[in-house]
Amino acid sequence: MKVLAIESTCDETAAAVVENFGDGVRVIKNIVASSMEMHQKYGGIVPEVAAREQIRSIIPVIIEALVDTEVDAVAVSYGPGLMGSLLIGVETAKVLAWSWKKPLLRVNHMTAHVLANWIGENNVPELPAVGLVVSGGHTDLILLESLTKWTWIGGTRDDAAGEVYDKAARILGLPYPGGPEMDKAASKITEEEWNKNKNVFKLPRPLIHDPRLDMSFSGIKAAIARMVESEDFKTWIPGQARNDVKGGVRFLDSRHGVPVARNDELKRNLLAREFSEAVTEVLVKKTMLAVEKYQPRSVLLAGGVAANKKLREALRNEVEKYGINFFVPELKYCGDNAAMVGAAAILRPEETGLDLKPDPSLGVV
Ligand code: KG4
Ligand code: ZN
Repeated sequence: MKVLAIESTCDETAAAVVENFGDGVRVIKNIVASSMEMHQKYGGIVPEVAAREQIRSIIPVIIEALVDTEVDAVAVSYGPGLMGSLLIGVETAKVLAWSWKKPLLRVNHMTAHVLANWIGENNVPELPAVGLVVSGGHTDLILLESLTKWTWIGGTRDDAAGEVYDKAARILGLPYPGGPEMDKAASKITEEEWNKNKNVFKLPRPLIHDPRLDMSFSGIKAAIARMVESEDFKTWIPGQARNDVKGGVRFLDSRHGVPVARNDELKRNLLAREFSEAVTEVLVKKTMLAVEKYQPRSVLLAGGVAANKKLREALRNEVEKYGINFFVPELKYCGDNAAMVGAAAILRPEETGLDLKPDPSLGVV
């Protein structure tokens, strides 16, 4: 079965053509347009701007995905996401399904992130599996007993990991979206610099010793804001090795986006590294707790934050040490894309009528 899949939940407008292949899914075309640049000047997503950009991009993106291809069905993610953005994809998918007289398949965007692990020509994950879903709006641990039987087993009590990455980046004066920028800043710290300075700026690892699968990230965000404003941070003198660092970077006040201090880049990168250590440690610890508790055959990582280099490496290490398989989508299928929506439509088809409405608050299960 060949499916045209449409994704418009937030600031990416995407269309893909995918087909079933063995037990998984093969991607024939995958087109993504993003309105990220428009949002960068505001330091975050402006829903009205995102929806307008969806309208501008949706038809060109679909036309590009469909070149030389006919499909058997139309799939669309109908939530969670921003109402204005969701409406564009959902209404477009309805019109296409109706005019082509093809089935319309609805897809939960978070389910699609997880099922991105079935894309490609490699082995598909063996079930049962524990899934860690980390995106801008979600941080959840789920148990997948089959392709359709999923149970929520834990997650954040407050902010999602991606959201905290974005806020921390803003505090450190890095552009939106913060996750990839924090990742880059953190990876500029050499192992030598890290070993010398890793105890200088310590952030908390909330609930890390708590035996439950609950997580919390808002405390890390608050701690980084306090740290940047503290005298310690402003007066800390970087190690001899980096005395050549010239120029300053702007650190922004978390609420008002105004510069509160000038400091050198090493401090910022070091703090970004400590931040990613803290978030990663919590995510890995909780996932491994779930592994011990549920004894799965695989662990799956999914969502935009699954693109994070440190998290991919650290979780893979622990899972493989435990002796089970680790899966994470290729980078291009971690962030929002339509190939994952097509994968979900093929693996968990949910045919629906032309009365389909967006549901901005859908959960992962
Ligand atoms: O799944 P996604 O593309 O959109 C949602 O469904 O929310 O996730 C976006 C989130 C953003 O918070 C972004 O900063 C974060 O994923 N992200 C990263 C990285 N790449 C994207 N966070 C940490 N490291 C990255 N490399
Ligand atoms: Zn997403």
